[in-house]
Amino acid sequence: MPNIKIAVLCSGGGTNFQAIVNAKEAGLIPDGDIALVVCDHAGAYVLERAKKYAIPAVVCDRRETPDRALREQAILRALEAHGIGLVVLAGFMTILSEQFVARYAGRIINIHPALLPSFGGRGMYGLRVHEAVLKAGVKVTGATVHYVTGECDGGPIIAQKAVEVKEGDTPEVLQKRVMREAEWVIFPQAVEEICRTLRAQTQ
Ligand code: GAR
Repeated sequence: MPNIKIAVLCSGGGTNFQAIVNAKEAGLIPDGDIALVVCDHAGAYVLERAKKYAIPAVVCDRRETPDRALREQAILRALEAHGIGLVVLAGFMTILSEQFVARYAGRIINIHPALLPSFGGRGMYGLRVHEAVLKAGVKVTGATVHYVTGECDGGPIIAQKAVEVKEGDTPEVLQKRVMREAEWVIFPQAVEEICRTLRAQTQ
């Protein structure tokens, strides 16, 4: 059976995309191939990363096409054209519609920079999550990989890893630690696990 084709959807720097690429290059994702990058922000650094690895990239810019339904149509066309079997949201800052998500039910996953169900939901993304964590005074945070459903950050959890919150942390310092110790570790592992399962199902 052929490998599962993976699309990575990003909005910014793409360090999680890079972690998945690194895992692939290291032979840790034998059941999947990174076939496409979709970015909703022209000029995002992830596009440079995609170019470096000769991975095709499609831009559906939010300012150029403010209508989410039109952007989703363009994304779906690209996913279908590339035969994508697994959609990976890696710092993708658009909330996708229920109809979109339903098309890829069980084949669309997200990374969230906290231990869901805490510090998730609408408005909780990027640095805001770490700001909320520090404000709450919790001593442990982390990252969560989960299936994407119609409920924002509410889909079944696939993997989690805890990270210590330290005295004097700023949101930026904490974000980096959560990325390094949790996101970049569990996300590529989850991608491979799901590719392996999906591949086995198609046999
Ligand atoms: C990551 O920390 C990711 O967990 C978060 O955005 C960052 C993207 O960084 N995602 C969310 O907050 C989604 N709710 P990256 O572009 O360097 O991977």
